[in-house]
Amino acid sequence: RRWRQTFGRFTLFVILTATGAFLYVTQAASHPPDQLAADSTKPTLVVLGSGWGATSFLKNLDTEEYNVVVVSPRNYFLFTPLLPSVTVGTLEPRSIIQPTRFISRHKKRKVAVYEAEAQDVDPVKKTVTFQDLSDIRGEAGSVTIPYDYLVYAVGCENQTFGIKGVPEYACFLKELSDADKIRTKLLDCIETASFKDQPESEIDRLMHMVVVGGGPTGVEYAGELHDFLIDDLKKWYPEIADRLKITLIEALPNVLPAFSKQLIQYTESTFKENKIDVLTRTMVKDVKEKSVVVQDANKEIKEIPYGLLVWATGNTSRTITRNLMAKLPQAQTQRRGLLVDDYMSMLGADGVYALGDCTATQYAPTAQAASQQGIYLAQTFNKLGNKAKLEKELSQLRASPDAPTKAEQIEATLKKLNRVSKLSPFHYSHQGSLAYIGSEKAIADLPIFSGNLASGGGAAYLFWRSAYLSNLYSVRNRTLVAFDWIKVKIFGRDVSESK
Ligand code: FAD
Ligand code: NAI
Repeated sequence: RRWRQTFGRFTLFVILTATGAFLYVTQAASHPPDQLAADSTKPTLVVLGSGWGATSFLKNLDTEEYNVVVVSPRNYFLFTPLLPSVTVGTLEPRSIIQPTRFISRHKKRKVAVYEAEAQDVDPVKKTVTFQDLSDIRGEAGSVTIPYDYLVYAVGCENQTFGIKGVPEYACFLKELSDADKIRTKLLDCIETASFKDQPESEIDRLMHMVVVGGGPTGVEYAGELHDFLIDDLKKWYPEIADRLKITLIEALPNVLPAFSKQLIQYTESTFKENKIDVLTRTMVKDVKEKSVVVQDANKEIKEIPYGLLVWATGNTSRTITRNLMAKLPQAQTQRRGLLVDDYMSMLGADGVYALGDCTATQYAPTAQAASQQGIYLAQTFNKLGNKAKLEKELSQLRASPDAPTKAEQIEATLKKLNRVSKLSPFHYSHQGSLAYIGSEKAIADLPIFSGNLASGGGAAYLFWRSAYLSNLYSVRNRTLVAFDWIKVKIFGRDVSESK
């Protein structure tokens, strides 16, 4: 008995010590040291955006040699690959975001972070104008600041092809607020369909979830919706669960054109098994409040009633990007986005670097490309900062009265200067493509040696989960996402509305 008591006390001691150490470490990490103040002798580096490109840039940047200003309408980074999981409550919204200040506060020199929308870039005067567009307005209105360098990473907006009714009636899936809106609307449709004496035809319409666009966004959303139907709807709304119908509309002959043929077939057959209707060669022509008008493979026009419409037909440039291109008509000739050289420097604009979805490059508009570009550009800026420091050091050494005795030191500094002055062009390294397709299955196109490994199913799903868990930005995000997954496994998804 005494042995058991001693063991119990020892265990308690270990648990308390471990908890204390964990709390100490997390506290220390969340209370960063004092930062260097802004220095008017250093160049001003303005970063537009807080998405994949801007955040990986900021994370890898040594701020000592710059006065950095970050401007973005949202004050956080959003881990977009897991956004479809938020639409049905597999993950909670806050689990996949990270405040920009969690990054900026750990930098050597103070970084100014403004929650505001950049509205104009003047590449000749080298200024940026931005405005606080939040509901609570202060007295400061629109502000214009000069920059020495501008890192332009504002992403893009949803493509609608000018189809009538899309902005009014469809839900997009790009921002956190979009996922929240979809979740609310989905539950609203289900509750309204369950309303007393609801006519049969109206139940069918309300329970018809239509997804337009068979790219990875549309496919992943359809997969998540299917999981919600099987795992939760059948449990909480047994009387109408079987009425839920999911239709995916795609203009091309197949979904996921960027994936390998084998995985396209695997996705389409999994969707068939899961009773997700895939209408290929079908183009949405018009969107009404309760129905979409489509032209099918036989060029026939049909009207499809829907309860919830999710629009995922790709990207287009933001207004600020189009305006910037219009200011440089000689150099910026691509409608798709900003043209940059191999060093991410924007054509026709001095000191402007552009990356991610807002650019028109040979790379697909993915998080993978944007984050690699961000890392590359941070390394470039770190080199430029080092170069400025070394040049200063060199001129001081040369100007000192005992310069002749410092020949070796001067030589060593010159060598370092030579090294940091050499910039190599951006090189993209493709790590593969992954997508979740529902019912605990994923697809993975992975480059292996000089070939490609295409895999679909449960193993790919485990790989998808572990890859995204390890890619999340912080330990906090990883912990929250892992807990959300466990929570959903034990308790199911929460079907209460947040209105
Ligand atoms: P974004 O990440 O979109 O960031 C743009 C930033 O600019 C945002 O912070 C925005 O608030 C800010 N901004 C907007 N306007 C202004 C303005 N006027 N002034 C200042 N700031 C502004 N890619 C993958 O590789 N793998 C995936 O699994 C994957 N899954 C995805 C799932 C979904 C649902 C979506 C929508 C996309 C997914 N992508 C994925 C694509 C990926 O998210 C984008 O390619 C990536 O976000 C591009 O990064 P970015 O920095 O260029 O733009
Ligand atoms: P997308 O551009 O990849 O796909 C849009 C699809 O919509 C196209 O297949 C197009 O043919 C179709 N379409 C367009 N207009 C239509 C119409 N009127 N009617 C019917 N179909 C129509 O767009 P998505 O999926 O939003 O992806 C954007 C980018 O983000 C891509 O580069 C993608 O690779 C990346 N992404 C990657 C993910 C992943 O790797 N898991 C997940 C989500 C996005």
